[in-house]
Amino acid sequence: MSSLKKFIANKLYPLALYVPKQKSIPEKMIDIPTAWKGLELIIEDILIHFNIGRESCIEFGVEFGYSSVVFSNYFQKVKGVDIFIGDEHTEHKGDHFEQTKKSLEQFKNIELFKSDYQDWIKQDDQQYDFAHVDIVHNYKETYECGFWAAKHSKCCIFHDTESFPSVKRAVYDIAKNTGKKAYNYPFHNGLGIIV
Ligand SMILES: C[S@@+](CC[C@H](N)C(=O)[O-])C[C@H]1O[C@@H](n2cnc3c(N)ncnc32)[C@H](O)[C@@H]1O
Repeated sequence: MSSLKKFIANKLYPLALYVPKQKSIPEKMIDIPTAWKGLELIIEDILIHFNIGRESCIEFGVEFGYSSVVFSNYFQKVKGVDIFIGDEHTEHKGDHFEQTKKSLEQFKNIELFKSDYQDWIKQDDQQYDFAHVDIVHNYKETYECGFWAAKHSKCCIFHDTESFPSVKRAVYDIAKNTGKKAYNYPFHNGLGIIV
């Protein structure tokens, strides 16, 4: 995103700055190219800062599993939901469900589901400790999936608040409409945090 667009997004959708107290490297990681790299260092800090439970995590937007593996370090159970065919913003297009399943099989606490978030949220009424939204970066989809995720978790994070103004806007609106508080960590493409 250009710096002018970033400036405008910050003015229109102001979010409190998240400043991690300490960074830690998760024990288990996988070495794959991803725009998520760098954020693994602040996940434990977020969990400690907001006193988040360590039982359950749900992720929308797994792709090749980088973020899922990061979460598998901190939660007893991680569910990963994805259509596994990519979207208009991903580089990789085409079915990568079997490939992702194979490379994550050693992480026994991750369960993958090939599903559109729209179908998933109609049938799941569980509450989770933590949620992550990193699907197609349009406002409508991020708002719809993120609203459900914020309502069904104590803490919900959103990737790409800096690279996509539509994601920042969705985070701002979800926090407003759920009565929760939103933060932004403006590095590694940006991470929105709703608690
Ligand atoms: C940016 S990638 C996720 C990157 C991943 N979190 C990582 O750590 O590298 C976005 C993923 O969202 C998925 N996706 C897009 N639209 C979706 C939808 N409507 N429901 C579920 N998954 C979707 C795509 O298939 C793609 O794998």
